[in-house]
Amino acid sequence: MTDDLLARHRAVLPSWMPLYYAEPIELVAGSGRRVTDARGRSYLDFFGGVLTNMIGYDIPEIREAVERQLRTGIVHSSTLYLIRQQVELAEKVARLSGIPDARVFFTNSGTEANEAALLASTNHRRSHQILAVRNSYHGRSYAAMGATGNRSWSASALNPLQVAWLHSGERLRGLLSRLDPADQVDAAVEDLREVLATQTAGDVACLIAEPIQGVGGFVHGPDGLFAAWKKELDAHGILLISDEVQTGWGRTGEHFWGYQAHGVTPDLLTFAKGIGNGFALAGVVGRAEIMESVPAISFSTFGGNPVSTAAGNAVLDYLLDHDLQANAARTGAILADGLRAAVGGLDCVAEVRGKGLMLGVEFVHPGGVEPDATLTARVFEACRAGGLLVGKGGLYGNVLRMGPPLTLTEDEAREGLAILVDAIRASAAAPEAAA
Ligand SMILES: Cc1ncc(COP(=O)(O)O)c(C=O)c1O
Repeated sequence: MTDDLLARHRAVLPSWMPLYYAEPIELVAGSGRRVTDARGRSYLDFFGGVLTNMIGYDIPEIREAVERQLRTGIVHSSTLYLIRQQVELAEKVARLSGIPDARVFFTNSGTEANEAALLASTNHRRSHQILAVRNSYHGRSYAAMGATGNRSWSASALNPLQVAWLHSGERLRGLLSRLDPADQVDAAVEDLREVLATQTAGDVACLIAEPIQGVGGFVHGPDGLFAAWKKELDAHGILLISDEVQTGWGRTGEHFWGYQAHGVTPDLLTFAKGIGNGFALAGVVGRAEIMESVPAISFSTFGGNPVSTAAGNAVLDYLLDHDLQANAARTGAILADGLRAAVGGLDCVAEVRGKGLMLGVEFVHPGGVEPDATLTARVFEACRAGGLLVGKGGLYGNVLRMGPPLTLTEDEAREGLAILVDAIRASAAAPEAAA
């Protein structure tokens, strides 16, 4: 029983690991874009386990690739031995990364991928000073958390890095928010120059940035911002790390990587979440001369293991064979256009934003930009009651986040859109009843 499981969960797991919903659910089955909970209720899933089930649930090509590996009897060998699946996946990722003469290092999580990127770049530059962006999220280790600009996710002040903070692409609040895109880019570069001149001691190692801030509520700066930043960074020899943990693999519809919207290639990029379609798989890819700046043995016991990389190869093949990037653009447009038309004009909706199948709706108190986390929570619960799973996020917990599997069909996009629109309208019109 779910209720019993909830009590057992609370008795044995730490409270800082949150559960969604007033009545948390246990997902016991999944197929395509649908999941079923322990009470037998079925949901269309627009969050995919935080963007991890990128292809969908129980996809035969991926299941069979994993089963083939299991049948060999080798679930794990360690990276001390050659792993065919690892090498094949590294070749594909290196080719797709757009980074010349690339090297790939596989890890088990986005956090470890960012750690590895920070290790290589701080060693390469012989400096532990870095730049990060306000409202960012990069993971839960000391360094990744130290580069995270979101109070709700910063559980410790201990930090191996010295971090200076840049303004984000935030459009609703903050110093750069009321500018048009070109002026915002200019102001962001001005900010970067000022931060370098006033908050660092020179010789900064890198800037780590998400093309679209995931946990931050799908906030992003104008296209071209990374290129403008990089021009200034290059003048100082500072490296650019693009954290593509949420934006990678075609999710934004318009490009394969989020960085490509900016007309620039980063020195390193990190990936995780969707590449294993649920199996623990992540990594960093970067220019060889930077990746080789690790002057000691460094390996990850489970990173690049045969089962995860078998899944990763099947995921990448499926993604490319079915051109899921184009599908993300097509189905994402149905959702974004539909949401803007149906609820974009409501006083409580400050913004419908994002790209492809990475879409957010930000809720505020009417007449201003004061965040309305209570209304967001009501909409969130109303979606579940209507049979749709979505995510929540943003600095103030007032953003609904949608990141469905990239295999979403047009019919499913319309079905989810209708549930979303009903939930938002009902919650905005009659908050207590909708709760
Ligand atoms: C942009 C970004 N970077 C890094 C991470 C950390 O990844 P993981 O939770 O796999 O360690 C996340 C997780 O949400 C993320 O969204």
